[in-house]
Amino acid sequence: MKDLSLHVLDLAQNAISAVADLVAISINEDAVSDRLTILIEDNGKGMPPELLASVKDPFVTTRTSRRIGLGIPLMLAACRRCDGDLEIVSSLGSGTKLTAVFRYSHIDRAPIGNMAETLVTLILCGINEKGSVDFVYTHMLNGRTFVFDTREIKAVLGADVSLTEPEVLAWINDYIKEGLANLHGGVQ
Ligand SMILES: Nc1ncnc2c1ncn2[C@@H]1O[C@H](COP(=O)(O)OP(=O)(O)O)[C@@H](O)[C@H]1O
Ligand SMILES: [Mg+2]
Repeated sequence: MKDLSLHVLDLAQNAISAVADLVAISINEDAVSDRLTILIEDNGKGMPPELLASVKDPFVTTRTSRRIGLGIPLMLAACRRCDGDLEIVSSLGSGTKLTAVFRYSHIDRAPIGNMAETLVTLILCGINEKGSVDFVYTHMLNGRTFVFDTREIKAVLGADVSLTEPEVLAWINDYIKEGLANLHGGVQ
């Protein structure tokens, strides 16, 4: 069973390859409705209708390096195992939005995993034709919210310091870890 953060990493990497310059990742853990919702939205090139219609099939990929694309089918399988589903909305030229839903308390629902590490990895590999991709990560837990936005960090650091500097990545990792720990540990 794969941590959900690894699925998020996979799907957000699709957005980077699709030449997005902004990727929004949002995770909503809601015990009341017993739903876990993961949203990944990008402003990349989008998918033509034929591709969108077949992208849940494991043999569909536009990569030329290999013939099987598994990122989307694996996330779909994880959702369906947990009474959920994966919805994809995409239009050419404006972007793609994936919504993955799980039954929160389902015994087969994988743990969320290490989202700090996922964000750090995405920042490190988030370079495409548009430059350095921005990420906004919103994590909601039973109505409380933590937000991390690379655009805010860039504004504070200024143009001379890259987010991929080791000290900056270490800070980002700690910042997200602490933010999520507060979300889970704080009084509601
Ligand atoms: N966010 C996205 N924007 C545009 N195209 C996408 C996006 N996500 C997936 N795709 C398209 O769907 C195909 C299948 O994706 P995936 O299942 O992750 O397999 P892979 O990335 O290995 O090809 C990709 O090759 C790409 O053409
Ligand atoms: Mg992929």
